Amino acid sequence: PVEIVARRSGRTVVAAADETLRSALERVGIKVQVSCEQGVCGTCACTVLEGEPEHRDAYLTDEEREANDQILVCCSRARSARLVLDI
Ligand code: FES
Repeated sequence: PVEIVARRSGRTVVAAADETLRSALERVGIKVQVSCEQGVCGTCACTVLEGEPEHRDAYLTDEEREANDQILVCCSRARSARLVLDI
C-alpha cells in the first residue's frame, strides 16, 4: 500500500497494491482528467512533489521518467511508500 497525499486538495488516501492512483484519488473525491486510461495520451499527468513514481505509461520519455517530477496517474504507481502530488 502507498500513501498518496494530494497536496492542493488537502487529502490523503492509501492506495492498495493493485489499485491505480487514479482510482485511489477518486475514492476521496479527487477527479482526475483522463482520456485514454492506458498511459499513452498524457492527459492525466500530475506533478510529483515528493516520492518516487513507478512509471507504467508509454508516454513519458526516459529523461522525463528520470526527472521524477511527473506521473501519469491512470496507470502508474508509486515505488516509494509515500507520494505527494500537486493535485
Ligand atoms: Fe491517457 Fe493517462 S489518461 S495517459
